[in-house]
Amino acid sequence: ELDPTTQSKKQVGEAAAARVQSGSIVGLGTGSTTAFAIQALGDRLKRGDLKDIKGVSTSFQAIVLAKEYGIPLTTLDEVDRIDLAIDGADEVDPQKNLIKGGGAAHTQEKIVDAFADQFIVVVDGGKLVDKLGTTFLLPVEVIPMAMSPVVKAIAALGGKPQLRMGVKKAGPVITDQGNFVIDVKFDAGIDNPAELEKTLNNIPGVLENGLFVGVASLVLVGEVVDGKPSVR
Ligand code: A5P
Repeated sequence: ELDPTTQSKKQVGEAAAARVQSGSIVGLGTGSTTAFAIQALGDRLKRGDLKDIKGVSTSFQAIVLAKEYGIPLTTLDEVDRIDLAIDGADEVDPQKNLIKGGGAAHTQEKIVDAFADQFIVVVDGGKLVDKLGTTFLLPVEVIPMAMSPVVKAIAALGGKPQLRMGVKKAGPVITDQGNFVIDVKFDAGIDNPAELEKTLNNIPGVLENGLFVGVASLVLVGEVVDGKPSVR
């Protein structure tokens, strides 16, 4: 038995997977919601309901899941397009701008999601916010030797930076690229996501931040209404 939030993640992941057509190149996102989409794509391939798709991964997690569910992988060096990317988010605002990177995977996610012709965001209803940065800290991937100057530069912008620490690992979280993640709190939320995205990426030593502005094509939201899962 899945709890209601997990049930809505499964529902919305499956709804996104149902939109994939045979012959497509599909960006495979990261996180627990996208994991359900990857599983559903594998099920469709096994049933013969879907043929000849190739995945482009956004993380080691996506690679592991694609292998587990039998989705052939390709890379950006081998393809000239991605038809559609499916990926989760940590916050979604009314303009379809996102905060991502709760799984420390936002750098590869932004490359794949932004390159895709269509980017479908899959979230449960708890991710919807009026203003970005109000419920979730903004993840910023930083090259380790630049951590101190980057922390100072972020504080000068009015953010409160904290180094993300590992859970089953001593010391800081290390990204798939071998870097650190700094989670930044903005007390009043983020007023101008487009500007902040550029400002942060302009700090020497910052690889990528978790603001995704103008990248999402469609947001699918899984919800549990009257005890029943639904997608809107
Ligand atoms: C990974 O870095 C994130 O961008 C994820 O896409 C995000 O954390 C969503 O994860 P869940 O679907 O598990 O909430």
